[in-house]
Amino acid sequence: MREELLLLGFPVLSETIAGIATEGTIDDTLRLNLLLRTGHRVLFLLKEFAARDADALYHSVSEIPWEEYITEDGYVCVTSSVDNPSIRDSRYANVKCKDAIVDRIKEKCGQRPDSGPDKDRVVVNLYWKDDSCSVYFDTSGEPLSRRGYRKIPMTAPIQETLAAAVIMATGWNGSGHFINPMCGSGTLAIEAALTGMNRASGLLRDNYGFMHLKGFKESLWNDLRVQAKKEAKKTLSCRIIATDIRREAVDAAKKNATTAGVEHLIEFDVCDYSETTVSDGGGIVILNPEYGERMGKIKELESVYKGIGDFFKQKCRGYTGYIFTGNLDLAKKVGLRAKRRIQFFNSGIECRLLEYELYEGSRKKKI
Ligand SMILES: C[S@@+](CC[C@H](N)C(=O)[O-])C[C@H]1O[C@@H](n2cnc3c(N)ncnc32)[C@H](O)[C@@H]1O
Repeated sequence: MREELLLLGFPVLSETIAGIATEGTIDDTLRLNLLLRTGHRVLFLLKEFAARDADALYHSVSEIPWEEYITEDGYVCVTSSVDNPSIRDSRYANVKCKDAIVDRIKEKCGQRPDSGPDKDRVVVNLYWKDDSCSVYFDTSGEPLSRRGYRKIPMTAPIQETLAAAVIMATGWNGSGHFINPMCGSGTLAIEAALTGMNRASGLLRDNYGFMHLKGFKESLWNDLRVQAKKEAKKTLSCRIIATDIRREAVDAAKKNATTAGVEHLIEFDVCDYSETTVSDGGGIVILNPEYGERMGKIKELESVYKGIGDFFKQKCRGYTGYIFTGNLDLAKKVGLRAKRRIQFFNSGIECRLLEYELYEGSRKKKI
């Protein structure tokens, strides 16, 4: 996400495993929500303060002028990440924070907004570690991984934002072919089509948290959308090929691609990964095989990973091969030396994107 932010012209102020801090106005959050492919949510900092316990939290949160942002007949959802010794259940912190918001609005405007768990309107995020508290608007509302196109998820789908980050890590930008055996619900191929066309991933959604804040500039949002559409390419000069052994997966992937408006850019096929067409001309071949949790399943998968290595060696010369997996022992069965190993986290599971240079002719290496 760091590179993406810099490309969009935003500075990187600090970086942790959970996120990147940049600076900008609430208007900038509209652009970030529209254009960021790899970010999960765009938080806008309202206030930082010290709070030892729930009463101190209530007091500081109620000093924020909520009536300037949230209408009294609106709706607010509070989410949080809490690690404070005085709080046993983070839901209690959420309730205190929510109470401070709605009590303040009642005092100023005479009516309390509704509140609850739905993230389809105003979302406030509380981050509380030890005595340090930060209160944000979650301007995305629902996470940005919910692009809106994946209606049919199939088995172990990769999140849309993670798929975009994986593609970005490969450096693929539409100049070579994108071959995706084991495509499942099609997330990698669909994100590749969006990336290759330079089509803003946020164009697919019509609801974000920022839209429910007072002062939402609808005309700015419309202008940003028009501009993003202008910047999208009309055609792709490469092939995107997505295959899966299961017909229902390919049918789901096609439907998802249709919802995303990129079905015409992807060639789908039902076949074993080893039978996937690999066009002349080079590019990337990327697979996200299952990585199994049960021992029996892992044994079964060993031959699949070995087969992927054979497929790379026999059919993909001149390409760069990638495997995205959460099981490094299985990855060893591929039998090729990985040139790069890039770390990712997929719902808390540590994963790797392994890169294999599949040289033409005699330069391929074995271990
Ligand atoms: C982890 S899922 C891929 C998920 C995908 N990245 C997504 O976002 O939906 C692995 C996929 O590999 C497919 N698969 C398993 N064995 C296969 C084989 N021998 N040839 C082709 N596809 C296979 C499964 O049907 C499944 O859809």
